[in-house]
Amino acid sequence: MTKLTIIVAFDSKGGIGINNSLPWRLSEDLVRFKRITTGHAIIMGRKTFESIGRPLPQRRNIVLTRNTEWQHQGAEVVNSLQAALHLIDNTDAFIIGGADIYAQALPLCSQLLVTEIHQDVACDTFFPHIDPAHWREKERTTYYSEQNKFNYAFVTYQKIHSLS
Ligand SMILES: NC(=O)c1ccc[n+]([C@@H]2O[C@H](COP(=O)([O-])OP(=O)(O)OC[C@H]3O[C@@H](n4cnc5c(N)ncnc54)[C@H](OP(=O)(O)O)[C@@H]3O)[C@@H](O)[C@H]2O)c1
Repeated sequence: MTKLTIIVAFDSKGGIGINNSLPWRLSEDLVRFKRITTGHAIIMGRKTFESIGRPLPQRRNIVLTRNTEWQHQGAEVVNSLQAALHLIDNTDAFIIGGADIYAQALPLCSQLLVTEIHQDVACDTFFPHIDPAHWREKERTTYYSEQNKFNYAFVTYQKIHSLS
C-alpha cells in the first residue's frame, strides 16, 4: 500500500510561505529535505513548482495543476490528486506543498515530517491545523540555528488509526 508522507516547515503560527517563496533560509532543513526525498516521488502544487523554478534532481517531480495545457520539462503533470496517486502506483511518495496541496492531502497521509521554526515570521500561506485527535507526536529533536538566531525542531507525527 502507498505510504504518503507530508514534509513541511512551518513557523510558530503555522506559516509556510510568503509571496510564493519560503519565508526563511534554513540550510539544515534544505539538507534534510534533500536527504529524505532523494530517490522518491515528490508531489507538489503548480505554485510550489514555479517557486522552486526547476524539477528537483534524482526525484520524480509530480506537479498538480488544473490547467490541462501546462507542462514543464522534467515534471510529470496531473490534473487531480487522484491522478497523482494513480501515477505513483503503490510506491511511497512525499507531499511537498504548498498549502493548497497540504490541505487536500493531509487526510490521505500517514506521516508528517515537520520542521518547526520557533519564531513568528511574516507569512501569507499556512499549514492546516494538526488535530491531536488524529496525529500523535512520535519524535522531536530541537536545534539552534546560529545563522538565523532561532530554535527549530524536526518533529515526526504518525496518524492515529481508529480501531472502528
Ligand atoms: N514551508 C514549506 O515547507 C513549504 C513547502 C512548499 C511550499 N511552500 C510555500 O507555499 C506557497 C505555495 O502554496 P500555495 O497553497 O499558494 O500553492 P500550491 O499548493 O503550491 O499550488 C496550488 C496550485 O496547485 C494546483 N492544484 C491544487 N489543487 C489541485 C487539484 N486538486 N487538482 C489539480 N491541481 C490542483 C492549482 O494549480 P493551477 O492554478 O495551475 O490550476 C493551484 O493553483 C509558497 O509560498 C511556497 O514557498 C512552503
